[in-house]
Amino acid sequence: MSDQKTEHVDTPTLLEGDPDTTGHSWDGIQEFNNPLPRWWLWTLYACIVWAVIYTILYPAWPLINGATPGLLGFSTRANVAEDIQRFENMNADIRTRITEVELAAITPDGNPDLYNYAIQGGAATFATFCSQCHGSGAAGVQASGYPNLLDDDWLWGGTIDDIHYTISHGIRNEDDLDARYSQMTAFEGILSDEEIASVVQYVRNISGQEADAVLAAAGETVYLDNCAACHLDDGTGDRFMGAPNLTDAIWLYGGSEAAIEYTVRNARFGIMPPWSAEASSAGRLSEAEVRSVAVYVHSLGGGE
Ligand code: HEC
Ligand code: HEC
Repeated sequence: MSDQKTEHVDTPTLLEGDPDTTGHSWDGIQEFNNPLPRWWLWTLYACIVWAVIYTILYPAWPLINGATPGLLGFSTRANVAEDIQRFENMNADIRTRITEVELAAITPDGNPDLYNYAIQGGAATFATFCSQCHGSGAAGVQASGYPNLLDDDWLWGGTIDDIHYTISHGIRNEDDLDARYSQMTAFEGILSDEEIASVVQYVRNISGQEADAVLAAAGETVYLDNCAACHLDDGTGDRFMGAPNLTDAIWLYGGSEAAIEYTVRNARFGIMPPWSAEASSAGRLSEAEVRSVAVYVHSLGGGE
């Protein structure tokens, strides 16, 4: 400290028996040079020893590609992997049985343990792999071509076997030769603008929406000649072709005049990837997972 300050204060006198001072003085306050308490020192030494032993036994020093592993080989990641393996083993038996029984036999009454496992596992699989397109609640994305899986309106069929097939192979993808496939014609250039305008009104009419009566009447012939092969004479659709029912209020792409006209001119070609790793190299799910998620989807309300 500055000498000026220390000059002005009285120098305190040390009493007899006082320890030495450190020689520091702040505003006249001097610092005793007391030895550290024993207990404190020993605790410090113990901590140092413990730290050294710890860094030898456990992962500790960060290196470029990870930390020093430590002699005990301890790893939280390995512990998690072990836990997962333990649960896999516990479920191995049930997973084998799920792939062996008839799909239709996985019911709450017939096989409650398989059914519960399938519903739980299927829900998790759905959340991970399906919800980005079909929505987390499986309600689909109206008018974007991602169908609602909760209702009983099925493009390709709603039995457990139909659903299992759709999920295994997907729809209109190029990865699986057995994918469900069909292609609506794009009528741009095939039908005249008047024909398109009239068939749009016809579809509006059979779906119970407001329509121009004169155009709709003219559209019936256009429909029967060009559309009925896939959507059927009465417009209720054909699951073999994946052609939607046009008479209900459930739309894959939309029932407004603009949406119907767009579909007729350009068609849509909705694609779903294949999921079964056995069915295609692009598939990412095991047969047990495909079956579980099929049971889950079937249970959502629309299953046939
Ligand atoms: C990349 C988007 C996408 C993902 C991911 C996806 N789907 Fe689909 N899914 C579609 C499309 C698009 C359709 C309708 C295709 C069409 O027009 O026929 C469809 C149709 C379906 C159908 C047929 C519905 C019917 O009415 O017949 C089922 C069942 C289905 N998906 C289940 C699943 C399941 C289960 C998963 C997850 C394992 C999944 N989807 C993941 C896009 C997807
Ligand atoms: C070769 C079979 C085929 C023919 C022919 C066909 N369609 Fe389609 N249609 C489909 C398929 C398959 C879809 C599903 C969407 C897609 O993949 O393009 C579809 C979808 C639609 C949709 C969308 C429905 C929705 O829910 O959003 C409309 C509307 C439609 N068709 C109207 C017609 C009309 C009108 C004609 C005649 C001018 C016609 N289609 C001819 C197969 C066909």
